[in-house]
Amino acid sequence: MIKTEYYKDLTKMNTFGMKVKARCFVEYDSVADLVDIEFEELARPVLHMGGGSNLLFTGDFKGTVLHSKINFIEILDESSCHPEPSCHPERSEGSAIPVLVSVGAGVVFDEFCEWAAKEGLWGVENLSYIPGEVGASAVQNIGAYGVEAKDVIHKVYCYDTVEEEFVSFSVEECGYGYRDSIFKKPEIRGRYIVTHVVFALSREPKPQLGYGHLKDAVDSATSACNPEQREGSLTPSLIRKVIIKIRKEKLPEPSVMGSAGSFFKNPVVSAEHFARIEAAVKAEQGADAKVPHYDLPDGTVKVPAAWMIEQCGWKGRRSGGAAVYDKQPLVIVNYTGEAYPEEIISLEKRIIASVKDKFDVELHPEVDHI
Ligand code: EPU
Repeated sequence: MIKTEYYKDLTKMNTFGMKVKARCFVEYDSVADLVDIEFEELARPVLHMGGGSNLLFTGDFKGTVLHSKINFIEILDESSCHPEPSCHPERSEGSAIPVLVSVGAGVVFDEFCEWAAKEGLWGVENLSYIPGEVGASAVQNIGAYGVEAKDVIHKVYCYDTVEEEFVSFSVEECGYGYRDSIFKKPEIRGRYIVTHVVFALSREPKPQLGYGHLKDAVDSATSACNPEQREGSLTPSLIRKVIIKIRKEKLPEPSVMGSAGSFFKNPVVSAEHFARIEAAVKAEQGADAKVPHYDLPDGTVKVPAAWMIEQCGWKGRRSGGAAVYDKQPLVIVNYTGEAYPEEIISLEKRIIASVKDKFDVELHPEVDHI
């Protein structure tokens, strides 16, 4: 079925809670319906939206918003996939047979994570509770707690609105980077509509606990068990539970306070630039002062944007209806629920300017401005 609405209120469809309208809103719930849409006739520009969790509407949308309701989760025939490296690029010979799961673009990503945990399938438990839908997860390469969507994506299936045909992209062809993919490149943006994504999950235990204090949090969740029980209690469900607890402590619940998760990307600087930052911080705060950072394989250094924003004194600060979230300064929130896009953007600009001024680092938003 194709549902078309005009001057559609999008307030509840963007997690920032911006009170905006779309001139035209088209929702479809099957691939057959998607093909029936007359793309040439849609009011321009066309925006394909997922859960609206990574965008900031800067005003009413003058074109057409498309939304997929293709909702299915299906295990593909497990015997059809051989444990050969070609089956998945990062899989070495002799490793576990992947369980290929096909998931419709309109499925809420966390519902997929919940399903996988109940099935005892490993791979997406660390991505639990990220807002958004499956189609967008493959475009944005969502990530959290040491896992990115690209680590579990096998293939992305799309409808090419230019050639009017179905195409698929292997994980290498998707050109994944940090919150990036070919689908975000300006020259092809909007051309491909994700219909479904095939993920490669695993029945073999594959806990990924290397990020920050995740292992400690998991250990304390299993501390009541004796050693043998502890081994068995390490399940995707348990890790999911721990991740959800951490996220709830740090990030605002979209239904309670509007936001789009991390507003900025974590910047990467050269080793020399990092040394300058460190020297300046030590000069200001004493020789024991530490700058959190992650050394990257190519010699560059990732410095948490949250730390820089906090150092600039923004943590918890309000500006009109907008605010910097007090538990995680990487998040800008619609504090009053009534914030105007201009208030969010003005706060964004002031944060960028003060981080530039203090650290000579240019922050870039992760959130798409529409
Ligand atoms: N930090 C502070 N002050 C704070 C909070 C954090 O200085 O109040 C510093 C600490 O040094 C901490 C570091 O920031 O170690 C990193 O914090 P965290 O582990 O919370 O991760 P993040 O870099 O802020 C990224 C993703 C999140 C994802 C988490 C967990 C980006 C832009 N954000 O945040 O993704 O959930 O890691 O893996 O990469 C999102 O994309 O919307 C999102 C929430």
